[in-house]
Amino acid sequence: MDIKQLNDEGRELWNRKARFWDELQGDSGNVFHRRLVEPSVLQLLELRAGESVLDAGCGNGALTRRLARAGAVVTAFDFSAVMIELARERSRAAGDNVDYQLIDATDEAAMLQLGERRFDAITCSMTLMDIPAVDPLFAAASQLLKPAGRFVFSTMHPAFNSNNPIFLHEKEDRDGVVRDYFSVKLRAYLDMPPVKGSGAPGEPTPHYYYHRSLSELLGAAFAAGFVLDALLEPAFEAEVKDSATSLDWSRFRQFPPILSGRLRLS
Ligand SMILES: C[S@@+](CC[C@H](N)C(=O)[O-])C[C@H]1O[C@@H](n2cnc3c(N)ncnc32)[C@H](O)[C@@H]1O
Repeated sequence: MDIKQLNDEGRELWNRKARFWDELQGDSGNVFHRRLVEPSVLQLLELRAGESVLDAGCGNGALTRRLARAGAVVTAFDFSAVMIELARERSRAAGDNVDYQLIDATDEAAMLQLGERRFDAITCSMTLMDIPAVDPLFAAASQLLKPAGRFVFSTMHPAFNSNNPIFLHEKEDRDGVVRDYFSVKLRAYLDMPPVKGSGAPGEPTPHYYYHRSLSELLGAAFAAGFVLDALLEPAFEAEVKDSATSLDWSRFRQFPPILSGRLRLS
């Protein structure tokens, strides 16, 4: 696997779909973001006003702006120039004070230029699974954070949602009662090469997803000196009305589609 080639292709694909993504997320994120991603990240972050936060792989800035509005001093980066420009435009229009930068999360030296021991916290929301190599990000994070700093992430749940699950809907009529069953079927968990995923309904330019088992993902963080001190597995509590697909995650309420965690330096 050529990391640089995959990453360059990823940048090109994200640039091409940045406008779609910006419209999908809007100012404060889509329903997935608002119901699962953001609440779990904010709960783990325990943000205090005035803290210095770095948002890694910020996309159009849906989480970034939320952090700024909660009183954080926010720096955010993404490797897609188009995405960063869209995020800047939204923050400018809303009057949010965010320092957006064009940085690649596979480039440790570029991230370190932000300033060692500068940040109280780093957030990385729904981005780890899009990066072909996460070691540089964890290595940089361990130096960018203040000694008591925390790294809060959310990512597609490695056990259920980053390994091409097959979604099943079964209907049973038994004893005069009709029941619906929603389940997921998996073919691989331990060894799963990068696969192109279609992303959100209607998303152009499918990009690679990098599945990592729990031990692989967390092992990369542990190797950089982090320990895991909190974990959340948010799932939908109610069905999303008017969802674009009849098999969306809000029907699979026994399965958390995302995993959110808090890492601290050991
Ligand atoms: C699924 S979006 C998530 C965006 C945002 N954090 C959110 O929660 O809405 C993933 C983002 O990661 C960015 N990304 C992917 N690979 C990256 C890399 N190597 N360096 C920096 N950003 C990257 C993409 O450009 C995209 O904006």
